[in-house]
Parts: sequence; structure tokens; C-alpha cells
Amino acid sequence: MSKILEDKDQLSDLIIEWYRSHGRAELPWRKNITPYKIWISEIMLQQTQVKTVIPYFLRFIKTYPTFNSLVLASEDQIIALWSGLGFYRRAKNIYRAKEQIKNSFNKEFPDSFDDLMSLPGIGESTAGAIMSIAYKKSYPILDANVKRVLIRYLNVTEESASKKNKILWEISRNETPTSNIFDYTQGIMDLGSIVCKPKDPLCSQCPIASICDSAFKIVTKSSKKEKTKKNKPQIDINFTLAHTDNEYLLFKRNEKTFWDGLWLPSEQPKMHKILKKESSSQIHLSRKHKLTHLDLNMSITLLRYNKSFDVRSNGQYRWVNKIDINNVGMPAPIKKIILEI
Ligand code: ADE
Repeated sequence: MSKILEDKDQLSDLIIEWYRSHGRAELPWRKNITPYKIWISEIMLQQTQVKTVIPYFLRFIKTYPTFNSLVLASEDQIIALWSGLGFYRRAKNIYRAKEQIKNSFNKEFPDSFDDLMSLPGIGESTAGAIMSIAYKKSYPILDANVKRVLIRYLNVTEESASKKNKILWEISRNETPTSNIFDYTQGIMDLGSIVCKPKDPLCSQCPIASICDSAFKIVTKSSKKEKTKKNKPQIDINFTLAHTDNEYLLFKRNEKTFWDGLWLPSEQPKMHKILKKESSSQIHLSRKHKLTHLDLNMSITLLRYNKSFDVRSNGQYRWVNKIDINNVGMPAPIKKIILEI
């Protein structure tokens, strides 16, 4: 920790200088910045890599360019724009946060750390990122990339996860500069993602190598060893997809486990029996799909009909036309199957 006392701005000065010549200024959320756009990008980036987020961010902002344009959006419309990005709780939190801003903040996107922290889906690091990038106010952040940089920089070896987190927040607070916060925050994010990578970090290209406790000492495990698969729970799930030539019968899933609030084919055996009776043909498919915490083994029965019809259902259902498929919140593997039919 003695480094912190030596020269408080040493780390941040190096990162700020590096960001100005090597940072990813071309990222879409770094152009024409507004607090609203930074919020959407930070939520999307919480559990997803930059290259995956880019097209989703562009589509979201094209549909809802400002907070005002998002005010009337339904939860379904927001989830539809999230379709395929995963971790759909984030989309629901955007909807809930938007409602809170509408009702409690007079439709003004908050500009204080405490108000941001009161919104669903925004924790300390995300609030810090919004404050420092959108409002240029000095707040620390601690996302996965920043953690890795700081752990290596000071060779933090604490094993207890909660103690380690506390130590890292303290380091992050100490290293966060009072000026040039915009360049520092984005610089340390970029450094973690493109130089101080989890595997095979590029120490020879690192602006802080001369003051880093781990520079040129990091040996990452061979990729083969890392690939030894962890056994995740296997879940079998049976779907019945009734369809005409261009319409698909989907039900809104109401389960807290996964895909809650998304539109899917029927999962109910009772509904399967009812649907099967009248259909003109049946096809069975099976597909595997990996979620973060479990593997899904999906069986899908496709039931063809000449025209759409009403069903009795306790939940919500709708017939979705193929041309509307991108406007409906459904998981990527289900969309893929529908596009294949
Ligand atoms: N990861 C989290 N926030 C980010 C940002 N604003 N830019 C790049 N990567 C990020």
C-alpha cells in the first residue's frame, strides 16, 4: 500500500495519458454523450462484452434516442430490444428505473450519486461510472476489468471475497483523481479490457508496467486446463410451438428462474394436448442451449395449423407474425428456431 502514499496521482496520470492516445474513443456510447445514453450502455455492459453490446446499444438508441422518448415504452418493448443479449433482469430494471424517474424525479434523469443509487439495476460502480463519464464528477468505479487492474497493480492476495472487495474499493477510491475523471474512468476500463486482459496480459504495452507489482510476472493457466468444463445443472424443457405459415403462438413466461417475462412457445403439457388435437402436422426438434448457470436441453414440437385461433390460457398469449419477430422479447434460441421454420 506504500505506493498510494508515494504519489497519489502516479497511476491516474499514466492512465489518463494513455487513454488520450490509445483509448477506444470510437465506441458508440462515447460519441454525443448524454447521461441517459451512458446509463443504457453501462447497464448493457454490466455482464456483456463490448463487441456484443455495440449492435444492441445502437438499436436501443435508434429506437429511444432520449430519456423522453423512453418514457412511454412498455416493459415488453424494452425486453424486445434486449432479445438475445441475455440477463433480462437488466431490461426489466431499465423499465422500473424509467418509471421511477418519471414518477419521482419529474422525468429528469438524476444527476446525483444518491439518486442514481436509488434506481433499480444501479449499484455503486455503475453510479460511479455514470457520475464520472456523464457528469465528469470524481467518483470511483470497480467493475470486473478495474478489479483485475488493481489486483495486479498492488498484488492483492486477500482470499476472502468480501475483504478483498473492501480492499479494492479502498484502492479504487485512493487512486481516483479529482480532475480528468472522464479520461481516467474510461482509461482504466479500457486498460483492463484490452491490455490487462485476464489471460496473457500485454505488459509490454502497458502504461503502468513500471509501477505494477505484477508486470511481466503473470502466468495464466494453459487454455486446455481452463476449458475443463464445470458441471452445470441440466434442465429438460419441452415446448409446443403452434404455428401457421407465418404466425407463431407464444406465451409470456411467468417463472422466476430464467427467461421470466419473455415470450416462448407453450411449456404446459395440458396445452400441448389441446394444441395437438387439431394440428395438420407435427415435427420434433431438440436443441441445447447454455445459460450462465445451467444447460438447457430443449425439445420442441412444431404443430402446423392452417390459420390462427384463440386458446384458453391463464397467462398472456399472442400470435406473432414472422415480420414482427424482432419487436418481441424472446430468447435467442427460440427466435432462431422460428426463423428456421
Ligand atoms: N465496461 C463497462 N463500462 C464500459 C465503458 N463505458 N466502456 C467500455 N467498457 C466498459
